[in-house]
Amino acid sequence: MTETFQFKLLAKDGMARRGEVSMPRGTIRTPAFMPVGTAGTVKAMYPGQVRELGADVILGNTYHLMLRPGAERVAKLGGLHTFAQWPHPILTDSGGFQVMSLSKLRKLNEKGVTFQSHIDGRRYELTPERSVEIQGLLGSDIQMQLDECVGLPTTEKEIERAMNLSLRWAERSKAAFGDQPGKAIFGIVQGGDNPRLRIESATALAAMDFKGYSVGGLAVGEPQEVMLEMLSITTPVMPELKPRYLMGVGTPDDILESVARGIDMFDCVMPTRAGRHGLAFTRFGKVNLKNARHADDHRPLDEESDCPASRDYSRAYLHHLFKSGETLAAMLLTWNNLAYYQSLMAGIRAAIDEGRFEDFRLATKEGWARGDI
Ligand code: GUN
Repeated sequence: MTETFQFKLLAKDGMARRGEVSMPRGTIRTPAFMPVGTAGTVKAMYPGQVRELGADVILGNTYHLMLRPGAERVAKLGGLHTFAQWPHPILTDSGGFQVMSLSKLRKLNEKGVTFQSHIDGRRYELTPERSVEIQGLLGSDIQMQLDECVGLPTTEKEIERAMNLSLRWAERSKAAFGDQPGKAIFGIVQGGDNPRLRIESATALAAMDFKGYSVGGLAVGEPQEVMLEMLSITTPVMPELKPRYLMGVGTPDDILESVARGIDMFDCVMPTRAGRHGLAFTRFGKVNLKNARHADDHRPLDEESDCPASRDYSRAYLHHLFKSGETLAAMLLTWNNLAYYQSLMAGIRAAIDEGRFEDFRLATKEGWARGDI
């Protein structure tokens, strides 16, 4: 832990990087997976459980928390760390992405975005400055700039417009954030599936000297191949000595392939959301526990796992819990999935430390392809 926000690059293996992002509330070992705690909770998990699995940081959402319970209220209640009983680092998204996907009657202009809440229809405004203010009220350790992410496919003109708007919002966000030594705000690279615009965005942001950089606007409808191509083009023009965060990604395979292209941090609802819907991630690939073929299967998901959810409960029992609509079904599968994601990240970090990341990548993919049935 440190007084100031710092990134240490500890090792490189090909393009894959091993590092540490340190700040007063703790150190994030990278490559890192950040469980999503949208509304101040990683759904179906106790905070202590999330920590015990190896998470160094969780994500919070400006959009959800500004609507309910309200940023000013969270601040009065002691900030998000206290409110949610998570004393470790918290990264917050800026709200723009969620406004675009969740709210109604959005209007976007140079100043910011106005929208109607998906909860009660009330009108709100989010500007780069207000987003920084809200993230500050929440007590976020790592803020994101307000940006505009366009869905794919779309026109080059539309991608370029949103990318340039995001650059102007990056300047305003950074100015609003000011000088906060123990905290950081990251700039977000946009540019859709256009190599020229990706490079332009990353280069312009690098010149603004953020403490870290996100890659946004990916996993929004394009094939995985296109996303990976964009990363191969983008990371070489991103500053070497700053952390790189790929927003909203992804599957275990997306993570493995993105680490191979120089990404350090990830977040995704995949392990938690899929868990609530009956899908388990394991060393042997995905298992859909709703499927009737598990009804008499006495085997656990992974008898060699350290996680009780993966090791101690039979597939038959998990299947039964889902068929019966039991709360414990979501709890156990979320636990299993986050345990798998965190063990994957620990494996990735150890492999980079030991200079065998390529072997690890291939062996891990072989395990998924082999299956266990
Ligand atoms: N989450 C996933 N993608 C994005 C993005 O492009 N911008 C922001 N702010 N959040 C995201």
